[in-house]
Amino acid sequence: MKIKQYTPDKSGLAYSVGVTLDRFIKIKQEDFPFASGELSQLLRDIALASKIVNRETNRAGLANIGGAFGQTNVQGEEQQKLDVIANIRFMRALSKGGEVCAIVSEEDDEVIDLQNKSGKYVVAIDPLDGSSNIDVNISIGTIFSIYRRVTPVGSPIQIEDIMQAGANQVASGYVLYGSSTMLVYTTGHGVNGFTYEPSLGEFFLSHPDMKAPKDGKIYSINEGAYNHFDDGLKSYITECKKREYSARYIGSLVADFHRNLLKGGIYIYPGTNKAPNGKLRLLYEANALAFIAEQAGAKATDGKQRILEIEPSSLHQRTPLYIGSNVMVDEVEFFQKKALSTVTQ
Ligand code: F6P
Repeated sequence: MKIKQYTPDKSGLAYSVGVTLDRFIKIKQEDFPFASGELSQLLRDIALASKIVNRETNRAGLANIGGAFGQTNVQGEEQQKLDVIANIRFMRALSKGGEVCAIVSEEDDEVIDLQNKSGKYVVAIDPLDGSSNIDVNISIGTIFSIYRRVTPVGSPIQIEDIMQAGANQVASGYVLYGSSTMLVYTTGHGVNGFTYEPSLGEFFLSHPDMKAPKDGKIYSINEGAYNHFDDGLKSYITECKKREYSARYIGSLVADFHRNLLKGGIYIYPGTNKAPNGKLRLLYEANALAFIAEQAGAKATDGKQRILEIEPSSLHQRTPLYIGSNVMVDEVEFFQKKALSTVTQ
């Protein structure tokens, strides 16, 4: 029998497809604080559910799954059919995997106890963010945060397992269903992005070790609410215009955040007199993206403090959000402080 040693083909006839998400997670398992493989499996479960949601999102215009579901969620927002479908998909994936004991979802009023005795992790998830954009074929996303439960595994879920500050996240990420579908995640060791290759049904590493530009020239805010902004924010927006920055706002947090992360920019959803805590949810929107932002060298605050340091007091708590390039987040804070000091003089 003749044996020949394998030498990788260098002819370029069959180009390399790169590293799959599964392989990457496996290679990186030793990065995880508790490298027993459960967190790796949990990330794979999320990736699998996101592939199914991606399929359903792509079919939305054809299958009878577009439009309103006919009910409102806990936020009082009209649920779209795809919101509900995505929630079912993620719930199913997370409950079957066995690694998760409880889930907080945008679509559910209460914490879902999975009755999973061996589950070490708590997941907070917005299964489909920006869903008012579904019917008009604009990018939407999934956002997730993963925490380790703090009470002993196997005991009943307690409030302290759920109400953890963002700084306790062991992993977070988002899936962007855009012109291509991407999954971006961090486990606290940098940020990596994977692009979905539909013909192979796999996510491939496309954006290794993502770093946000320190400064940027894009501002993303719903300027329709300008009259409700505080004076400092108004003067910052005026400054952005003076500098001829680009205004870019899709109304899908994941898409706006992702663009600014790659190109440099700031996303703002402020508190106003009408809504002092803004609109976005701390547990399953702001925390996850703040963790990603910081890991990529960017910044996330509520205008006063780091998002990741906020101690949550309720499940569906809202928070103002200033997130993006360092210099821009600092600058808007500077404008706000300046405006406040002028008022108090
Ligand atoms: O989660 C809420 C959300 O849909 C975000 O994705 C988006 O950035 C924001 O609301 C848009 O809100 P508004 O329509 O008030 O600008």
